[in-house]
Amino acid sequence: MSSERSTALLAVEDLHVTVGDNEILRGINLTINEGETHVLLGPNGGGKTTLLNTIVGLPGYRITQGSITFKGTDLADLEIDARARLGIGVAFQRPPAVRGIKLRQLIEVAAGEGEHEELLADLIGDLTLSKMIDRDVNMGFSGGEMKRSEMAQLIAQAPELTLFDEPESGVDLDNIAVVGKAMNRLLKAERVGKGTRSGLIVTHTGHILEYVNADIGHVLYNGKLACRGNPLDLIGEIGKHGYDKCVECAICQM
Ligand SMILES: Nc1ncnc2c1ncn2[C@@H]1O[C@H](COP(=O)(O)OP(=O)(O)OP(=O)(O)O)[C@@H](O)[C@H]1O
Ligand SMILES: [Mg+2]
Repeated sequence: MSSERSTALLAVEDLHVTVGDNEILRGINLTINEGETHVLLGPNGGGKTTLLNTIVGLPGYRITQGSITFKGTDLADLEIDARARLGIGVAFQRPPAVRGIKLRQLIEVAAGEGEHEELLADLIGDLTLSKMIDRDVNMGFSGGEMKRSEMAQLIAQAPELTLFDEPESGVDLDNIAVVGKAMNRLLKAERVGKGTRSGLIVTHTGHILEYVNADIGHVLYNGKLACRGNPLDLIGEIGKHGYDKCVECAICQM
């Protein structure tokens, strides 16, 4: 095992992924160390959600080349639930509705064994879940309510690496602060004997970065991570010059 691998929480190496008949990811290399928060930028349809869903292990994403390693374990043969138990969580861009399962029940399952009254009361208060907690998960939830429901499930799961797919999309200005606070709770929680947790945030606007500190930004372009730099600088450059020019930009460190 190389020294880079031993310090990396997540190591994505030369990852090629095909969805349907299309190769969407064409050689992604990404290392996220313990305690780091990364940002993933890129044009619509570029493959950001594809990358996150492949890391999580959703069906339909075929790895044709390369590897994903988490805490030194190759994820190739692990099902989605095993990856979650290993410490990977995701806040979906468009979370699925789950008929017949109440949000309260899902939070209790995510939290694991034991009594969860205190956690539930805390989450209902912090994320204003009282109107959703005893309804089927995401059934008829508004866009913003779904994002808060996702945060509650993740806080209960307490993953070591959380993937956030456009956490602020569809969230009103007041609730962006609420979502940001929940993300910080996920990313900054200290664990016994460990440093802070890690994250990968997909955002188009960067609004969420007013609430959450991120270390490194990447631009996913033409199936590869084309550029790397300070996330806010990258968003500024993309806003001024567009994605096509971004990959040639002066602040690109690669
Ligand atoms: N099941 C599928 N069959 C065919 N193509 C698919 C399928 N799922 C995704 N794709 C395609 O893969 C490409 C990448 O999609 P993806 O959702 O990863 O993009 P994205 O970067 O997250 O975009 P956005 O910023 O709009 O969320 C798109 O062209 C999409 O249409
Ligand atoms: Mg997406």
